[in-house]
Amino acid sequence: MTKIDDCTLVIFGASGNLSRIKLIPSLFRLDSLGRLPERMKILSVGRSEVEESLWQDDIKSMLDNKFKKKFDPKVFDRFIHRNFYHANLPDDTHAFERLRVRLSDISTFPQNLAFFLSLRPSDFASIVDLLANAGLLDESKAWRRVVIEKPFGTDLETAQALQKSITKHLKETQIYRIDHYLGKSALQNILLTRFANHVFDPLWNHNHIDHIQITNNETLGVGERTKFYDATGALRDMIQSHLMQMLALTTMEMPEKFSPENIRTEKIKVLESIKPIPIHALKNHAFKAQYGRGKINGEEVKGYLEELEDPKSVVETYAAIKLYINTPRWKGVPIYVRTAKRLHASNTAIAIKFKKAPLSLPEQDDNWLVISIQPNEFTRFEIQTKIPGLDTKVRSVPMDAPSRITGDESIDAYESLLLNLMQGDQSLYLHINEVEASWRLLDPIIKAWNEDKSPVFTYPSGSSDPVETKVIFDKPEQFWRHSIEINDNKL
Ligand SMILES: NC(=O)c1ccc[n+]([C@@H]2O[C@H](COP(=O)([O-])OP(=O)(O)OC[C@H]3O[C@@H](n4cnc5c(N)ncnc54)[C@H](OP(=O)(O)O)[C@@H]3O)[C@@H](O)[C@H]2O)c1
Repeated sequence: MTKIDDCTLVIFGASGNLSRIKLIPSLFRLDSLGRLPERMKILSVGRSEVEESLWQDDIKSMLDNKFKKKFDPKVFDRFIHRNFYHANLPDDTHAFERLRVRLSDISTFPQNLAFFLSLRPSDFASIVDLLANAGLLDESKAWRRVVIEKPFGTDLETAQALQKSITKHLKETQIYRIDHYLGKSALQNILLTRFANHVFDPLWNHNHIDHIQITNNETLGVGERTKFYDATGALRDMIQSHLMQMLALTTMEMPEKFSPENIRTEKIKVLESIKPIPIHALKNHAFKAQYGRGKINGEEVKGYLEELEDPKSVVETYAAIKLYINTPRWKGVPIYVRTAKRLHASNTAIAIKFKKAPLSLPEQDDNWLVISIQPNEFTRFEIQTKIPGLDTKVRSVPMDAPSRITGDESIDAYESLLLNLMQGDQSLYLHINEVEASWRLLDPIIKAWNEDKSPVFTYPSGSSDPVETKVIFDKPEQFWRHSIEINDNKL
């Protein structure tokens, strides 16, 4: 276990949704597993005055809501005594100076400080300025780290502007940019599946792989996030960070050492090697659509435009793109990336289709390797075996390797992320070059889609992928593969 320095975690926006459902419960879990340093403290910062005892009651209610069970009183007491509240009143011009004075009480607060900005993205740069002006980012006596929640910019220009602003005060080693997908054990499993098994590496290239599919589909619609979603769209919401990270982990080269820096270096290299999408041929490289009315699990649901109450929106709830990586390993291999809301099934997975086998029998399928991230964590390899009987016929049979078995721990992504933050391990956080490479690639598509006001293709809620997406596939026999369920032998 890596040793963790005693430190103070300062949470801005601690009363908000993310903090309630993820940050505070994850910190409690880490404490109950004995993973927090003994003197570690949590200072929650908010814009209103809240008595410390009421804040501690609030924490109890967050934990009750999340875990719905009685806690070991010793662990609970220890956790409550780690927690403090500080009011940073919006009209107080000396608020950050007061925060500095509060934090300088060394008998209470360890001086290594991590600031978690669980705030509106528009507040990130100004809060970093205010922290720096108060001397709170100065590392001459202890470390200082800042966590920036997703999204880091809304396009390349805004990402670069935010970067320019925060690097006036922070070095890259102090900046922890979140993509919480990287905290998921199932994502970390991608690299281990590839590199801790001898069988895969020799096959992991254009000689053997026909194409790759990276998928995130949901039965859910946009829910109450209509305004946010309409300003964002599926491409920005899911593909720009989460799915591009899945792509990077699937296609990067083996790092020289399995260290945080080396893993990030290889991810950056592969993201920077993706060929730009030719905008003049966008129709064969990217497809967008919106969900209309339909049925999910037998229940009637509204279409996107009805939910939004704006019939003119051309924002996509289905986005699919085709990418190529300009390296010898991936020469000519298309990578299809898609995300959709209100499809008939929810699943997040990487599916790899291998090239044709030397023998080709009627009705023979190809080999697929599927690394399923959600809802189940498992890897499936589909092989062809003879159907017993008088004829020479084969069928596809799944070989399943569950990554989670009964009794395994369930770790929330934020538990891993917070632990790594305190350890100073940035492997689960995004480097600025990864963020920029991804925006550089997607910005032209976002711009072209925004400018095109012609009606958007509509798919019924609860349907499977629209056949119209065929336009982005390279070969007639390529198409989205169906989602898979564990214990589903029907295929
Ligand atoms: N919620 C999630 O599941 C989730 C998932 C991924 C990413 N994120 C990201 O995490 C961050 C926080 O999300 P959230 O859902 O927790 O946000 P939130 O509930 O809307 O707000 C977080 C906190 O920000 C402060 N705040 C709100 N409006 C403000 C204003 N006008 N000026 C200054 N402070 C204001 C409030 O704290 P005080 O009133 O106490 O100051 C509020 O509790 C965002 O960047 C979001 O994009 C959230």
